[in-house]
Amino acid sequence: MARVLIVYDSQTGNTEKMAYAVAEGVKQVRGVDSEVKKVDRTSLDDLVAADAIIMGSPTYYGQMSARLKAFIDSSEKIHGKLEGKVGAAFTSAGGTASGAETTLLSILQTMLVHGMIVQGRPDDKHYGPASVEAPRPKDAKYCKELGKRVASLTLKLSKHPA
Ligand SMILES: Cc1cc2nc3c(=O)[nH]c(=O)nc-3n(C[C@H](O)[C@H](O)[C@H](O)COP(=O)(O)O)c2cc1C
Repeated sequence: MARVLIVYDSQTGNTEKMAYAVAEGVKQVRGVDSEVKKVDRTSLDDLVAADAIIMGSPTYYGQMSARLKAFIDSSEKIHGKLEGKVGAAFTSAGGTASGAETTLLSILQTMLVHGMIVQGRPDDKHYGPASVEAPRPKDAKYCKELGKRVASLTLKLSKHPA
């Protein structure tokens, strides 16, 4: 089985809800397992063991949260070991056009530095799903779609085809 790890930070539960919606999308693809973990319970070994890593953060001042950034900074210890894994991002913000896209890009940028593979989306939500506060049904739909898309790409690239 290919493994998709969903790592998130969340203070008030909005990004957490998105994380579980992403996991639902992953589960729609046969041959791919998903695991959802809050960032403070995630280890660097978890990252190395995954075939794909999807990260979610609340938008804080137009960037990912300090907790998620600190975890990513600690991944310098495993630099080189995430190369070729699939990466993706999602966020919950307090409004629209108030920093969600820069937050997504702040996460995706670190994935590119790790040599990970990031797939864009041509029709809307180019960088990943972003909800305003708690995800509404439409946001959950985008999250599920992200999970499904990452799982399908992971399977394509994986050494463990279904
Ligand atoms: C320290 C802090 C900074 C924030 N900065 C922004 C911001 O720059 N733009 C924005 O739209 N919302 C901002 N927010 C609002 C959160 O992104 C929003 O409430 C989000 O839904 C929280 O997600 P969570 O429930 O997963 O913690 C900020 C909230 C906090 C606590």
